[in-house]
Amino acid sequence: MSAKFIVIEGLDGSGKGTQIARLAAALAERGHRVHTTCEPTQYATGGLIRDALAGLTKRTPAELAGLFLSDRIAHCENPQDGIKTLLNRGFTVICDRYYYSSLAYQGMDLGLDWLIAAHRLCPAIIRPDLCVFLDVPTEVADSRIEAGRAGREIYEERSTIERVRQQYKAVFAALSDENIRVIDASRTPDEVFSDLLSEVLKIL
Ligand code: TYD
Repeated sequence: MSAKFIVIEGLDGSGKGTQIARLAAALAERGHRVHTTCEPTQYATGGLIRDALAGLTKRTPAELAGLFLSDRIAHCENPQDGIKTLLNRGFTVICDRYYYSSLAYQGMDLGLDWLIAAHRLCPAIIRPDLCVFLDVPTEVADSRIEAGRAGREIYEERSTIERVRQQYKAVFAALSDENIRVIDASRTPDEVFSDLLSEVLKIL
């Protein structure tokens, strides 16, 4: 049983949190050692990013992309609880967002070339064994954000959400050599989970 690195991506409001919790429980039940994590991280860089996302600190798109890259390097390399350390200890790591988010969100302003090159050339950044994109139409994401939050972060404005969704599609086309699966997440949580689990079981 070898440890795998699984990334779940999706628009804000796509139901990632619920699906990740169910996936972690299902894999643990099957005897896997599982660790769930997310980006932005809980490290210092993650804090800087969250301030920028909330609009408390102004950052240029390139600066924000650099912070996410730095946060991701820390996330891969932290000797205590970084992704590589956990994989080496035999944990299957499930990560809520990873470089696909940088390519989709920061890529909207910066273009994909620089960001793809930065991630691919950086020796610290590891490639996931599987990325699953939970795909919801813009209206579903928008109404779930509306129902769930007091205020919107910078990427949660209605007009931005559709652009992000289109950008994710461009990202997946550009990364055609990676193992990426798109699941229709506008269905019931049970239906979505059944597809998610079957994709994950293929690589375990
Ligand atoms: P957050 O509320 O922390 O989590 P989520 O929406 O996944 O439940 O929001 C994270 C935000 O950060 C989200 O709007 C996407 C954005 N983001 C980027 O712009 N680039 C990145 O590389 C990552 C990891 C996230």
